[in-house]
Amino acid sequence: MYLGIDLGTSAVKTVLVDGAQRVIASESRPLTTASPLSGYFEQDPAQWIDATFATLDALKATHAGELAAVEGIGLSGQMHGATLLDASSRPLRPCILWNDGRSAAECRVLERRWPALRATSGNKAMPGFTAPKLLWIATHEPEIFAATKLVLLPKAYLRLVLSGEAIEDVSDASGSLWLDAARRDWSDAALAATGLSRDHMPRLVEGCAPATTLRGELARRWGMSGQPVIAGGAGDNPAGAVGIGAIRPGTAFVSLGTSGALLAPTSRIAANPDRAVHTFCHAIPDMWIQAGAILSAASCLAWIARLFGATEAELLAPLGLRPQAPSPVSFLPYLAGERTPHDDPAVRGMLDGLSHGTDRGSIVQAVLEGVAFALADCRDALADAGIAMTEADAIGGGSRSRFWLSVLANVLNVPVHRFAGGETGAAFGAARLGRLAVTGEAIAAVCTRPQRVETFEPDARLVDAYAERLPAWRELYRPRH
Ligand code: XUL
Repeated sequence: MYLGIDLGTSAVKTVLVDGAQRVIASESRPLTTASPLSGYFEQDPAQWIDATFATLDALKATHAGELAAVEGIGLSGQMHGATLLDASSRPLRPCILWNDGRSAAECRVLERRWPALRATSGNKAMPGFTAPKLLWIATHEPEIFAATKLVLLPKAYLRLVLSGEAIEDVSDASGSLWLDAARRDWSDAALAATGLSRDHMPRLVEGCAPATTLRGELARRWGMSGQPVIAGGAGDNPAGAVGIGAIRPGTAFVSLGTSGALLAPTSRIAANPDRAVHTFCHAIPDMWIQAGAILSAASCLAWIARLFGATEAELLAPLGLRPQAPSPVSFLPYLAGERTPHDDPAVRGMLDGLSHGTDRGSIVQAVLEGVAFALADCRDALADAGIAMTEADAIGGGSRSRFWLSVLANVLNVPVHRFAGGETGAAFGAARLGRLAVTGEAIAAVCTRPQRVETFEPDARLVDAYAERLPAWRELYRPRH
């Protein structure tokens, strides 16, 4: 029996997976995000621990026998967040999250101080990545910077609480900008450029390698007989890749979580930092992931649902299964700024083309289309790096919407596939990593491609209609920096 724990942005999701890779049970607890200023996003790490423990306590209440038999645990996590710990491993302030845009000036400083940044990390310095956040802290909260003894990504902090050890996997670590992506090791020059050293960093492991074990007292709390192994795990995007068996080149996929991404596994680094393409180490050895990342995807749907005072299901139901034509309204999904391709933390969203005749359905459709157009921008940025996409699997909460996947298939002009359980993809992928760490089985034998339940084929008429719309949608973007 294996556990996958995904420390996401909107929730912690925990799945219990058996030896036949069936999800036996899952539990989820919501998380809240504070936004003290526009473009600032923070979470209290104590919330992550409470939510994780609540999912495990709930599994104990309903599946005690299965939980007792857990041998391996995999962790997946929202990437890039800076959790700063003091000498007693206590958080010094709330974690600054992946979508936080406060460190734009620091990105410019970092690129000046360390000209090899793009070549070494495969990334452009963008706010949201971890390293510029530390420069921001050094300038704006110097007493906290001075007290910082350890810098952890969110799931490494969770692992520290679960195991007592500070360990990170290379896929999540590559979202920090401190990693030499080709060598899969910390870069001393990168750390020095932010006034830090290896002493401030956790030990590194591969995602599918055994990292540590669950503390004895926690294993007893959840009724486990031994102390399960905790694998390296992965950032939520690489973990999602493992969950759908995207472990080889040619298996690009789309993630519609709080954030969105178009991700392509590669056997060599194919970076394109100038167009804000992300380079991550994959969660399996000798593979990388090139990604176009957008900061708001399913969170746009959540936003419009809040605005209309309706549930997401209530908003989606009247749209039917597929669009008849593009909405007359256009939406820029830059509610938290944007990374790929603009790298513009200051830009904000927009609704364009409103009239007296505009109804709720056209606005909701425009929101879904705006996210799909932003993913088309990601596709083009990846294409510039030589990565072509002929079909795409879809994961994340947004993949529950057939209408949205149909829009995506037509905007991207490729077949889009949906899986049963695709919305818990990262937690499932984490469970697979937990299994690999225990059994040492062949990666390809475990990371198989799950059964596709539905394919959304592009329809030539809609493909043309969306292709005609895309240039006008792009025109709406005006850089704010
Ligand atoms: C990827 C990114 C997000 C977070 C949160 O670069 O910032 O996908 O991992 O899910």
